[in-house]
Amino acid sequence: MSRSACFAANWKMYKTPKDALAYARAFAPAADSLSARSSIALCAPTIDLAALSEALKSSRVALGAQNCFWEPEGAFTGEVSAAMLASLGVRCCIVGHSERRRLFGETDESVARKVSALLAEGIRPIVCVGESLEENRAGETRSRVTSQVHAALRHLSEEQRAGLIVAYEPIWAIGTGLADSPEASNQTIGYIREALGGLERATVLYGGSMKPDNALAFCAQPNIDGGLVGSASLDPAGFIALIENGLRGIDAAA
Ligand code: PGA
Repeated sequence: MSRSACFAANWKMYKTPKDALAYARAFAPAADSLSARSSIALCAPTIDLAALSEALKSSRVALGAQNCFWEPEGAFTGEVSAAMLASLGVRCCIVGHSERRRLFGETDESVARKVSALLAEGIRPIVCVGESLEENRAGETRSRVTSQVHAALRHLSEEQRAGLIVAYEPIWAIGTGLADSPEASNQTIGYIREALGGLERATVLYGGSMKPDNALAFCAQPNIDGGLVGSASLDPAGFIALIENGLRGIDAAA
């Protein structure tokens, strides 16, 4: 039986609500016509979520966010809760992206709390893990991703763990055009699957300079279920092309 695939756009801090609407109009019909085996999500800036929620209502493209706070409400200026995201129909949310860990003080503990809060609201966390170039060169990739996965699972029951998506994103490959090799990513994702333990078929994605022309090679690897895509997701036609090639890779590996 062929695997199911998942492709999530990470728009980062790009696109106003007007841009997001124009994107959704171009993207959703094409995405809807792609294989029913793939889940496709747009993880947008918080300010775009209300407009996208409306625009994606009759589409199978899932609405995604990029961050949340773990408390349901309260005096937390500038934050948005998982419950608030859920009220807009958000179905998945990136947690622990390396940019948030590096620039905004995200820690393994805050990742674990956000993961619990999201799952409690029925939102699938896309937990990002990955090593720095120094860690990679020092042969520490396996221990780094294993400890990040264990930390994210810390507060979860066996049943909750099944709701996780993990994205392996080597930090040095993000936004640099220097993707990891598909074979090396496949091996590291194997370590991530081991760290996830007992989960029969967890969804694990690759992220870091995935493009239309390398998506097939990544997705043809048996451990890679799809991609978390930054710059190559910003153009709707380009992201569709990437997904199509990725699905060819999934089929080739099946
Ligand atoms: P990139 O970003 O595709 O632009 O490398 C991926 C990510 O940061 O999730």
